[in-house]
Amino acid sequence: MSPEDTPGVHAVSLPERAAVVDLAAIRHNVRRIAGIAAPAKVMAVVKADGYGHGAVQVARAALDAGASWLGTAHVSEALALRAAGIEAPLLAWLHTPDTDFAAAIEAGIDLGCSGWELEHIVAAARQVERPARVHLKVDTGLGRNGSTVESWDRLVGEAVEHQDEGLLRVVGIFSHLAVADEPHREETDQQLDVFREALALAEDAGIDPEVRHIANTPAAFTRPDAHFDLVRVGIGIYGLSPFTDQRSPELGLIPAMTLLTRVANCKAVPADQGVSYGLNYRTDDPTTLALIPLGYADGVPRVATGGPVRLGGATYPVVGRIAMDQMVLDLGTRLSEEERAALVGEPAVLFGDGHDGGPLADDWASAAGTINYEIVTRISSRVPRVYVDSEAAGEAVDSGAAGGGATDNEATDGGDAA
Ligand SMILES: Cc1ncc(COP(=O)(O)O)c(C=O)c1O
Repeated sequence: MSPEDTPGVHAVSLPERAAVVDLAAIRHNVRRIAGIAAPAKVMAVVKADGYGHGAVQVARAALDAGASWLGTAHVSEALALRAAGIEAPLLAWLHTPDTDFAAAIEAGIDLGCSGWELEHIVAAARQVERPARVHLKVDTGLGRNGSTVESWDRLVGEAVEHQDEGLLRVVGIFSHLAVADEPHREETDQQLDVFREALALAEDAGIDPEVRHIANTPAAFTRPDAHFDLVRVGIGIYGLSPFTDQRSPELGLIPAMTLLTRVANCKAVPADQGVSYGLNYRTDDPTTLALIPLGYADGVPRVATGGPVRLGGATYPVVGRIAMDQMVLDLGTRLSEEERAALVGEPAVLFGDGHDGGPLADDWASAAGTINYEIVTRISSRVPRVYVDSEAAGEAVDSGAAGGGATDNEATDGGDAA
């Protein structure tokens, strides 16, 4: 396989291993979801460094494509976006008493509030002499953050008092769904009923929020009745499906990240050669082993033996244990010395957009017994992110090749690197 055949990779000098992120795919996915969600607006969820894709670059691409809000879990993540010069409406929703609420208010970051945070937010607003922008969160059934239904009345009442004092403005009311990725489950209906009741109670108390929001990616696709004013989408903007029975193309999404490296070694071995720690795998026949220099320190799950790697136009499962830095493929055939030498340095793709029948993050999720969210998010900082823009290169997003790339250490001028 030549680098030109590798999604998002052209004949540019790539690092030895890279998570190549196609910003055109991000924009495509945002447009696709915005089309489904309209007239509701789109909040691009860029927590956890943009699900491993790079929060700043993804945020800019998402805003370019029509997202009007950004969302993070932590205030520190939101502050990093502001420090990068991003001024869009921005909500952070997961706090502790150590959260720097004052810095958030000064930076114009909206704050999710489930209860105990209210007094901290109000104290911070007094300190910085600026009203906080607050989204009250109600737990409609997920059992994590959010006010209980029983406490909702009180939280709303206290928020209204502080609003009347000029210390805050309730700009949003929100909740989070538990099983929207399983559309047949009735709990989503129940959560929506509870949400509507909570909204009615808040409106009766005089709250007139700018945005009411509960939908995540799966609800954006399957539950128009959950769109309200804003959908908070994460996994979909990265081009991945939240559903177990539907993959990206069926949803009109394009996976944005390609994880690849180059073959580090290739050798002929006899039958009964043990492979990797534990010698859990033994070759059946004389064969060729290819060494792939990515391992669990790079974020590939150690348990994902059997995960697919695309090499030279074919896909091979990882054999033996995945180690800290490396994994092994059994090519299942005896190659000549010249052929083995030629394979060293060839691109090896763990997952990408699948345009050439190559593996998806979903396949690694299956191999590891987890979800695609975890696969992309856990790619470690040892793997440089490289940004490409297949649209800017004048090529179709799904053409399988992009022109140019920039690592996250290089200036990308808004992410349009090519
Ligand atoms: C509160 C909240 N809203 C929205 C999202 C986005 O979810 P998804 O990635 O399924 O779209 C998340 C992610 O887990 C979240 O925690």
